[in-house]
Amino acid sequence: MTSRELVELAKKAAENAYVPYSRHYVGAALEAKSGKVYLGCNIENAAYGPTNCAERTAFFKAISEGERGFSKIAVVGGKDLDFKTYFTPCGICRQVMSEFCDDDFIIILGKNGDEYIEKSLDEILPMRFSPKYLS
Ligand code: THU
Repeated sequence: MTSRELVELAKKAAENAYVPYSRHYVGAALEAKSGKVYLGCNIENAAYGPTNCAERTAFFKAISEGERGFSKIAVVGGKDLDFKTYFTPCGICRQVMSEFCDDDFIIILGKNGDEYIEKSLDEILPMRFSPKYLS
């Protein structure tokens, strides 16, 4: 799937976000090496701490379906779905990516007007701690 197509799917996924507290809708579209795409949205909680980010929702859906290899993820977000700026993955989501993704994994950040940028895991999480340190 092209990066542009993944960004469009992420925008669709954001519509399902449960965000009564921040009103920031985030969507993710994660492409597994199998070719299947898993969508995720953020899910907030009145106790705040249990909130789950869109990226981790997508990863955990995929992992729980048996996927282990991933090629790319598109992420979008914004107040009331405005997608005005790039919404970059939080530190916890970056570490989850580090667990399951190789150096060739691509993070696509999308916003309005068909604009997107692509980053590597090394760019967004340099000197990352990964399973190789425990082998
Ligand atoms: N959020 C995500 O879904 N992904 C990120 O990587 C950054 C933050 C969500 C969590 C919360 O529901 C809202 O954005 C505001 O922080």
